[in-house]
Amino acid sequence: MMNILEQLRETTSYIQKLYPHTPEVGIILGSGLGNLTAEIQVEKEIEYKDIPHFPQSTVEGHQGKLILGELNGKRVAAMAGRFHYYEGYSAEQVVYPVRALKFLGIKNLLVSNAAGGVNPSFRIGDLMIIRDHISLVTVNPLLGKNYEELGPRFPDMSEPYKKELIEKVKKVADKLQIPVKEGVYFGVTGPTFETRAEYKMIHILGADAVGMSTVQEVITAVHMGLPVVAISVITDLGIRDDDNVITHDEVLHEAKLAEPKLTAIFKNLVAEL
Ligand code: HPA
Repeated sequence: MMNILEQLRETTSYIQKLYPHTPEVGIILGSGLGNLTAEIQVEKEIEYKDIPHFPQSTVEGHQGKLILGELNGKRVAAMAGRFHYYEGYSAEQVVYPVRALKFLGIKNLLVSNAAGGVNPSFRIGDLMIIRDHISLVTVNPLLGKNYEELGPRFPDMSEPYKKELIEKVKKVADKLQIPVKEGVYFGVTGPTFETRAEYKMIHILGADAVGMSTVQEVITAVHMGLPVVAISVITDLGIRDDDNVITHDEVLHEAKLAEPKLTAIFKNLVAEL
């Protein structure tokens, strides 16, 4: 069986044959947040199912293709659709595309996701720059044999989201007059939304939002020394007096409504990188 390095080399050479350029920025778009791809002057689209060693996307709201092209004058590689642990992939499969993007040559990674708010000051539709995360209840994607070619055995996690990039996001958002919050993202496996008691616990533990993606991807990027910035769209409020339920349809609906703000920020941000 091929080891991960050999697989990554095969993946990269397949993509490079179809697209002989080096993308500078990698972008991973969350549930209902795929519209940024409409702003890309597409040079090449490759379906995940055609890319050697790529897992495949099965979730509603995820398109499942790699989009290569120019966004605001920068060459980007955007994942329309990501892989989640709750779909049944291993943690290593979930993060495989992040490694592939790094092998393709990206210098920065932009990530978005839909998340549930647990900070009482948050409202549905808010954007939250992720300042830090709590990954302790998700499976660490670096468990198992470490390949020094990818990164160190014991990576430092004191700045998982690059401060310099966070400052750039704030500057861009300010220029666009888009309010942004900042906070801690709590990673869970899903697929259940949290119980009322769990949302409260997550807040007590120091988080502002909770979601089913991102942390494994970010750990992998940090392992490889790849700078990351991530933004959550708050699609539902976990801590609430209402006796409402939380549904995936609602999450997708609210993500779509807030999406233009996120697209404007990412589009302007790439020009600053
Ligand atoms: N919990 C977990 N994941 C989510 C949520 C939530 O409330 N909203 C969107 N993704």
